[in-house]
Amino acid sequence: MKNFLLNKKWLILIFVVLTIAVLTTFLPTDKEEVVYVYTARHYGIEPVFIEFTNETGIVVKHTTASDAALRERIKAEGRHTNADVYITVDAGNLWLAVKDGLLRTIESSVVEKNIPANLRDPENQWFALTERVRTILYHPDRVSPEELSTYEALADPKWYGRLLMRPATHPYTQSLVASLIVAHGEEESEKIVRGWVANNPTLIDSDTRILETLAAGKGDVAIANHYYLGRLLESNPEFPVRIFWANQNVGERGAHVNITGVGVTKYSKNYQNAIRFVEWLSSPRGQKLFADSNHEFPANPTVEPHSIIAGFGSFVRDPINLTEYGRLQGAAVKLLNRVGYR
Ligand SMILES: [Fe+2]
Repeated sequence: MKNFLLNKKWLILIFVVLTIAVLTTFLPTDKEEVVYVYTARHYGIEPVFIEFTNETGIVVKHTTASDAALRERIKAEGRHTNADVYITVDAGNLWLAVKDGLLRTIESSVVEKNIPANLRDPENQWFALTERVRTILYHPDRVSPEELSTYEALADPKWYGRLLMRPATHPYTQSLVASLIVAHGEEESEKIVRGWVANNPTLIDSDTRILETLAAGKGDVAIANHYYLGRLLESNPEFPVRIFWANQNVGERGAHVNITGVGVTKYSKNYQNAIRFVEWLSSPRGQKLFADSNHEFPANPTVEPHSIIAGFGSFVRDPINLTEYGRLQGAAVKLLNRVGYR
């Protein structure tokens, strides 16, 4: 009996020691500094996060899903959300996040210094990390650049059966149409989009496939985002598609720009780390790594784009207020419906 009790004491002691060992190994300690990122951007982004951790010791934990799904998730999780930071494409998504009260003001003179005011929310609830340009692309054997000019001119009947475009359901199309509405008003924009539809464009719901179709000669002119061509050229420098910056003549508004942007969530539990993270992303080091990973244009004007993208040459950007894409999204969807753009 005595032996048994002695053994039992030992067993309890061993159990306690093992339990402590397991807990200290697997549970997060108070000392681990983290920032939780919900990001719709995932292509090539992990090395950027790792570099931030190397420089600051703050561990980046991230979840990826579509822009809208992540926004809905932050909304549904409310004050219990894990998300400290939301990274998304399209200013329309950021506008909706602000409208739904999901973000808070980023109080940072560093961000204000690094990112120009036109690429920041007026209330500093988000700012652009990089710019993406939705413009005209063409097959050089089938089209000469002299034939190209504006988005509007693609409504000319000479492009019948030759256009490749993204469907109406995609925010890229909706934001482009929102920019037409700002430039021309609804009535005139409807005529332009009706002209595109009359040209019987091939609608493909992937910019990469649009450019591959163009390269294969099954279409002559496309509207797509510039960075897809950057990626395709990186893997094949002979890829037979050229870029044309739209609406560049004197008096024209410039090429259609959208952004990849970032916000800090209203219920962030690691607010200081989130601020350090977004400040670092706005800095020359973070900007260079981030922009090189997505082939977009750095929002910080002191940072050079990827060499392939720099090779596309300089251009004028449509100076539209980015929040218009969100504000006019509903009107754009209705317009696309009315003219039978599917
Ligand atoms: Fe994209």
